[in-house]
Amino acid sequence: MSRRQNIAILGATGSVGRQALDVIDRYPERFQAFGLVTGTRVPDREAGYLIRSGDPDFEARVVELVTHPEVDIVLVAIPGARSLGPTLAALKAHKKVALATKEVLVMAGDLVMGTAGADAIRPVDSEHSAIWQCLWGESHDSVRRLLLTASGGPFWAFPETDLDEVTVEQALQHPRWSMGPKVTIDSATLMNKGLELIEAHQLFRLPVDRVGVVVHPQSVIHSLVEFVDGSAKAQLGNPDMRLPIGLAFAYPDRLPGVVPPTAFEDLGSLELHPLDDRRFPAVELARRAAQTGGGHPAVLNAANEEAVSAFQAGSIRFSSIVSVVESALSAFKGSGTMLEDVLDADRWAREYVVSQVGIYKR
Ligand SMILES: NC(=O)c1ccc[n+]([C@@H]2O[C@H](COP(=O)([O-])OP(=O)(O)OC[C@H]3O[C@@H](n4cnc5c(N)ncnc54)[C@H](OP(=O)(O)O)[C@@H]3O)[C@@H](O)[C@H]2O)c1
Repeated sequence: MSRRQNIAILGATGSVGRQALDVIDRYPERFQAFGLVTGTRVPDREAGYLIRSGDPDFEARVVELVTHPEVDIVLVAIPGARSLGPTLAALKAHKKVALATKEVLVMAGDLVMGTAGADAIRPVDSEHSAIWQCLWGESHDSVRRLLLTASGGPFWAFPETDLDEVTVEQALQHPRWSMGPKVTIDSATLMNKGLELIEAHQLFRLPVDRVGVVVHPQSVIHSLVEFVDGSAKAQLGNPDMRLPIGLAFAYPDRLPGVVPPTAFEDLGSLELHPLDDRRFPAVELARRAAQTGGGHPAVLNAANEEAVSAFQAGSIRFSSIVSVVESALSAFKGSGTMLEDVLDADRWAREYVVSQVGIYKR
């Protein structure tokens, strides 16, 4: 067997980060936590490097870690735009990047994919890991369409719920997955699926109109690929992030027993339903942002981050999250996909949302 893989974890105290440490601990002959980056919390373990967001020279130290000659794999799992710089630095240093932070590919997909060597990015998002697995051994020309599954979040199954009145506590109750607050609220608005649609379009180099979304409340089918001959492949399993995390670390191997097998005999029915785009317009909004291109996906991402924060702070209603993002996309006039353009679009969108919060005030 090859030598142990040294892993740097950005976001080591988060939901993905802690599950990654669990995988590393269970396969000590294969992996080692080389360095950990966190916000304010302290991880309950030692590593060669521990970098916290309040530390002096935080950003430079993170770049030093992700480009360190002994690091093999960088797990990117700090939510939002702040992961872009370290991801680009790791890719330029020819590291393997296990990417959980979908926002990086949404805001700067062209730049990130242009920087990444072949197979440098290993998806950690369960849907993209599923598609990745379905595509092994297949040619790009054989693919007709990618189909992302969505649990529907906490409100899909309750059409009588008035989305104007949803509280932060209700939005944080995901029916299937236990995740950090930002991605949980994104799952409730379905913006998470919109971000994933752009992530899939970038990762698998297909136009967004060949990426679909289907609601699958059981979250057992993690996504599907349809092929030109009418056949389709899906990847199935219990919802457990340690599977895609382990695969991103061990690829092309699979880790024996990383998650318990699924009891398929006991599953009963698996449902697939169309998404109601009128009630949950976020996916179509994301599709349009990707089609418009330029800085629009970056605006979508940054406006959404700010709108989610405003909702969490009690400043705007749940239903206003997507409305304020839509308003930002309509008002945005910039173009270009170079790093400066993306950062300008990101900054502009944040300022725009902050300036609009008064109008949307609950
Ligand atoms: N959770 C999932 O199952 C899941 C699934 C698919 C994709 N994702 C994606 O993975 C990413 C991480 O999600 P998560 O659910 O793991 O998030 P989370 O539980 O909120 O954890 C966030 C992590 O990032 C750290 N962090 C936050 N702000 C920071 C800053 N300014 N500087 C340095 N570190 C900072 C946090 O540190 P502190 O603990 O110190 O605050 C924590 O370690 C997101 O982009 C999400 O969309 C998550």
